[in-house]
Order: sequence, then C-alpha cells, then structure tokens
Amino acid sequence: MNNILSFFQESSERVEHFLDNRLINSSVFTAKLNEGMRYSLFAGGKRLRPALVYASYGLFSDDYDYVTPFAAAIEVLHTYSLIHDDLPAMDNDDMRRGKPSNHVAFGEAEAILAGDALLTKAFEIMSDYTCAPNIPADIRVKAIYKLALAAGDLGMVGGQFADINAEGKKPTVELVEYIHKNKTSALIECAVYLGAVAGGANDKQLENLISFGKYAGLAFQVVDDILDITSSSDVLGKNVQKDINSHKATYPAVYSLEGAKSKAEQYIHKACRSLDSFGDKAETLLSIAKFITERKS
Ligand code: IPE
Ligand code: IPE
Ligand code: MG
Ligand code: MG
Ligand code: MG
Repeated sequence: MNNILSFFQESSERVEHFLDNRLINSSVFTAKLNEGMRYSLFAGGKRLRPALVYASYGLFSDDYDYVTPFAAAIEVLHTYSLIHDDLPAMDNDDMRRGKPSNHVAFGEAEAILAGDALLTKAFEIMSDYTCAPNIPADIRVKAIYKLALAAGDLGMVGGQFADINAEGKKPTVELVEYIHKNKTSALIECAVYLGAVAGGANDKQLENLISFGKYAGLAFQVVDDILDITSSSDVLGKNVQKDINSHKATYPAVYSLEGAKSKAEQYIHKACRSLDSFGDKAETLLSIAKFITERKS
C-alpha cells in the first residue's frame, strides 16, 4: 500500500504543479471565477484519474512528464463533474473534498460557470500544442475524441441524467449498471485509455486496458455507494447517507450491502484478469485496483 500511496502522491504533485501554472486569471472581472475554479481543483481529492493515466502510460515509458497534460485535463474535467453533481438541482450536497461545496462558497450561478469553465479548460489543455509539444497530433486527436465521448451524453452526462431521472423509482439491475458504467466508469476507462494511447499501445493492449478501466470504474462506483452507507463525512469529506435519503439507484439498493460488496469484488477481479498479458509490468495498475476496493475514502 505504501508504494501505491507514494505513486498517488507523485502523480498528484505533477498534476497540481502543471495546473497551478495553467489556471491563471486574465481579468479583474473574472477574479472570482478563477478563484472558484481553483477552490475546487486544489481542495485535495484522491487524484485517482491522473494516477491511472500515469500508471497506464507507465507500461510503456517512465517519462511521466510527457503525459502530464492528459492527466491534468482529466482531473480538471472530473472536478467540473463534482461541482455540478453537488448543485441544488442535482444532488444538493453542501460538502465536497472536506470543504463547503462550490455553490455554497461562491453562489449557484458562479458554481455552474466554474464547472463550465473547468470542462472547457480540459479540452483547451488537451488541444494546446504548446503544452504537450511531443505528443503527435494524431494521438492527441484520438485522446480528445475519447475524452469527449466519455464526458458527454454517451458517457458521464448520460449517466448523470439517468441517475437523476431514476431518483425515487425502483431501480433495476440494467438501470444501475447503465448509470454506473456511464456516470463514473466512462471517465475512469478514459483515464486508462489516455495513458495507453500516449504510450503507443497496440490494438490488443488498448482493448485489455479499456477492459481494465471499465471494470475498475464500475468497482469504484460500487465502493462509493457502499461508503455512502458505511463511512462518515469526516472520513469521506462529503455528506453520507445521501443515497438512501434521495432514493438513488445504487448497487446496495439493488443487491443489498453484502451483495454490493461481492459485486465490487467481482468487478475488480475482472479488471485484474484483463491485465494478465502484461505480467509483472502491470503491478502499479493492479495496486490501484486493490486500492479501489480497500479504500476508506
Ligand atoms: C467522486 O469521485 C465522484 C464519483 C465518481 C464517485 P472521487 O471519489 O474520485 O472524488 P475525489 O476526486 O477523490 O474528490
Ligand atoms: C457522481 O456520483 C458521479 C459524478 C459524475 C460526479 P455520486 O453522486 O455518487 O458522487 P458523490 O458521492 O456525490 O461523490
Ligand atoms: Mg450524483
Ligand atoms: Mg453526488
Ligand atoms: Mg456517491
């Protein structure tokens, strides 16, 4: 566990250094917008998605700085999704990453705009030739396309829509699988893809890594559902017992708490099997998979 925690730490430092330089305010009229964007971005967070970009890329090269713009972009996009997820019209949560949610600290309209700006910033970073001059244009376009698919109606936004729409209804297995695959797993799969495509993975390697990301992402959201029931807001840095109170479509709601735990184990097992062909080189990704099921926050 110690090794993987230091891998997370190093991933986080690389990305935060990059973003600290990137998120500069350009006008007195947008000072609060910049402050709001930075507020959520630098509030901590596990930085799981950057760690996955680096770990996947690490199968091919250890020149981690090369892929930092991709790792940073996906964290920026993820942070936007958290700000919007907490809005009164969505999950109505007043705590995130151990601090008041963005809309509590800055106002609702401001939080919507900070989220919009972070979403756009992700694509600005991905497409900026000057900040990743060594990544060839064709690789960059593939990566941007995958991120767009993962973020929009065919991915995270689609999942969030289904999640909100399912509130108060009796969830089915098909529905909860759709929600989790899209609202969470799509971006996690994308993180693994970004590292792999930047590293020059061949088609078979990409297929295996996408499978890893998909199942690890499903396991991650099942564990998120479980922690909402079993953990505390002090430990998680966000409100708990929210899913039951909001009648959300979650794995525990469909399978019970014990059933959800065994689903998480099954998903993580499938994720790990997808890496068999990489042998010992997959050690970091396997440790991240273990972290996903054992995490406490
Ligand atoms: C929370 O994601 C939202 C989900 C997709 C479950 P994380 O648990 O990765 O949140 P941070 O980035 O660590 O704050
Ligand atoms: C949110 O899922 C997934 C996102 C796309 C942000 P949740 O609503 O369960 O995430 P938390 O529990 O608020 O972090
Ligand atoms: Mg939500
Ligand atoms: Mg939420
Ligand atoms: Mg949750």
